[in-house]
Amino acid sequence: MYFPITRGRRLRRTASLRRMVRETRLSVDDLIYPMFSTVGKGVKRPIASMPGIFQQSVDHIVKEAKEVHGLGIPAVILFGIPDHKDATGSGAIAADGIIQTTIRAIKDAVPELTVITDVCLCEYTSHGHCGILKGEEVDNDATLPVLVEEALSHAEAGADMVAPSDMMDGRVGAIREALDEADYGHLPIMAYAVKYASAFYGPFREAAESTPAFGDRRGYQMDPANGREGLIEAAMDVEEGADIIMVKPAMPYLDVLRTLRDELDQPLAAYQVSGEYSMLKGAIERGWFDEERVVMESLTAIRRAGADLILTYFAKDAARWLNG
Ligand code: PBG
Repeated sequence: MYFPITRGRRLRRTASLRRMVRETRLSVDDLIYPMFSTVGKGVKRPIASMPGIFQQSVDHIVKEAKEVHGLGIPAVILFGIPDHKDATGSGAIAADGIIQTTIRAIKDAVPELTVITDVCLCEYTSHGHCGILKGEEVDNDATLPVLVEEALSHAEAGADMVAPSDMMDGRVGAIREALDEADYGHLPIMAYAVKYASAFYGPFREAAESTPAFGDRRGYQMDPANGREGLIEAAMDVEEGADIIMVKPAMPYLDVLRTLRDELDQPLAAYQVSGEYSMLKGAIERGWFDEERVVMESLTAIRRAGADLILTYFAKDAARWLNG
């Protein structure tokens, strides 16, 4: 392949030629929209670091869920902000808890919309860690039964899929077994399998009010320096019964996505997290980036690296652009 026999520009000359040879396509079907549900009525509180994203009470969540469904987006993922937190995160498993109430309301109003729930304790614990503490450490095995209870309570409320994001070892297997025993064998698990201890979650912690009161999450989330370890995490979760494997964050970890795509046949999801959104949004608001171009480029790059599904705060905008 050498010049002038080969000229890369020949197939780039016109829009229709570019369309014909395009390798990667983004579709509305690939998108999952995250939402933050809070107690009260008529509440729609802006999240300062995430322009356009809100903490909303159930009435507003339902309104937005209808809009999301109307745009053709197949699924939402829900995060709950409870009115009280305690050491064991008991709000996470309450039958009338914030998430359980939100699930029921959405399934009632928009039954066709797939409701995925984030299974974790950090939004519900007073210390902000993702599990039960023993001294200053999160106790893996003591946390598993609580996560199991949480996943079951989401299933009972009508969730269509659960997504454990806590990074405890063995949680996918424990949740799978409990769901099967309780007659929820049909309920898929999307595992936050390859989840890094990332500074890009900063804005989410404002959104979900889940900043750890001391220390950080490096004792259970993955070291950003490790790529190969992602394969081990993903393989373990597949063996334990995960149906969809997630990599998180997305843009700084495209290499990891590509490796997993080459090694696994399960559907792969990537989470374009809060900090990725804030970073792009901040530059867009200053007029430094063209919004549609930079958002579509970032989502296409995540697809190209191997993601089938993308969790993104840009889902509604992307759907509008894709729908023309
Ligand atoms: C809960 C959870 C987090 C995110 C999703 N689920 C925060 C964390 O692990 O600290 C981050 C999502 C985002 O940044 O958009 N553990």
